[in-house]
Amino acid sequence: MLQVNNLRKAYGGLVAVDDVSLTLAPGQLLGLLGPNGAGKTTTVSMIAGLLTPDRGDVMVNGERMHGDTNPLKRRIGLVPQDLALYDELCPTDNLRFFGGLYGMRGDALAVAIKNVLELVGLADRARDAVKNFSGGMKRRLNLAAGLLHDPDILMLDEPTVGVDPQSRNAIFENLEFLKSRGKALLYTTHYMEEVERMADRVVVIDHGKVIANNTLAGLLASVPPKPGEQPSLEAVFLTLTGRNLRD
Ligand SMILES: Nc1ncnc2c1ncn2[C@@H]1O[C@H](COP(=O)(O)OP(=O)(O)O)[C@@H](O)[C@H]1O
Ligand SMILES: [Mg+2]
Repeated sequence: MLQVNNLRKAYGGLVAVDDVSLTLAPGQLLGLLGPNGAGKTTTVSMIAGLLTPDRGDVMVNGERMHGDTNPLKRRIGLVPQDLALYDELCPTDNLRFFGGLYGMRGDALAVAIKNVLELVGLADRARDAVKNFSGGMKRRLNLAAGLLHDPDILMLDEPTVGVDPQSRNAIFENLEFLKSRGKALLYTTHYMEEVERMADRVVVIDHGKVIANNTLAGLLASVPPKPGEQPSLEAVFLTLTGRNLRD
């Protein structure tokens, strides 16, 4: 469904993303795992068409995405790392605004808003000002905004940072549901336990480069655990890079 070939992006002399390739299939959650500054946000921004790559291309169902108005962009949703919400407005008015950006209106928009607010558990807060929401509720509304136009491919950029455990679990349940509906999910995080819990495939990225691309099971099996230890992504990352992901 999504194929990313040899993406590269430099900011001045800093190569933030260096020859990154990955593929994502329907019903699959791909974990893009890497420490802060690894190039995760730059990668998803290029896939979403918000940032122009220096090199490489993004294919959706075999078609190359290019240009600002390419209709293929509609197939992709992005839940950005930085919250993109209007604090003074309620969820319904926030979503009306985002729907308008996708040319949605009328009954179709009203139904879509109702559906996504129900999915993320905010239907009963539809008319309350977002400024009074907890961090977790804002994150869930951010997710609703990314889903509003019903994209086939949803990218979530560190969606659980600053989120309480209850909202975090609610987001994970939403993602399991979306997977079961055949959505293709690209999930960036620096939390290994999230990848261990949810990912079908894992791409590990460090200093802009892909250092591993495997199934979760394959990746864990690639590094034999020390005697008495469980296989872990922590050990995999340490073996691949010589340091801990948390450093
Ligand atoms: N707009 C920008 N201008 C200059 N450098 C940037 C910009 N955005 C990101 N970077 C740098 O590019 C690298 C990758 O950043 P980013 O993609 O945000 O990583 P991640 O999302 O994995 O934390 C970092 O070194 C970051 O400082
Ligand atoms: Mg980031």
